[in-house]
Amino acid sequence: MASKDQMDALFREARKAADAAYAPYSKFRVGAALLCEDGTVIAGCNVENRSYGLSICAERNAVFQAVAKGRRRFTALAVSTPDSATPVGPCGACRQVLSEFMGPDAQVRFGGNGPAQVETTIGALLPLDSLHDLKTP
Ligand code: THU
Repeated sequence: MASKDQMDALFREARKAADAAYAPYSKFRVGAALLCEDGTVIAGCNVENRSYGLSICAERNAVFQAVAKGRRRFTALAVSTPDSATPVGPCGACRQVLSEFMGPDAQVRFGGNGPAQVETTIGALLPLDSLHDLKTP
């Protein structure tokens, strides 16, 4: 279980990652940071495309970068959306992809540029995930 200090640090990494966002169409920057089981942190940002549907969210970018670096288990996630006052959580597609590599008790924090932050879990974001039991390793 990640400590409050770890979650604070993870959120700072997510905030930093948002600065690299390529979001000229929505102008909505997102940064995501994953705490890997071995203690490393891997971050990602959203990358949009002029063919809008090809855009990728920060959360999936972070997951794919982590897997490409050999990490497959994550204990916590932080998401920063500095262009919104209120917290914005992962989209449905990202919830599904995150749940491939994170257990239902994995912690999630998301926040915008205001004081409000949401603290939750993967299980709360993707409840009744019956497919979870069927997945390989
Ligand atoms: N976006 C993310 O990167 N993560 C989220 O959790 C919500 C949405 C991106 C997709 C698009 O580039 C922009 O935010 C506006 O939807």
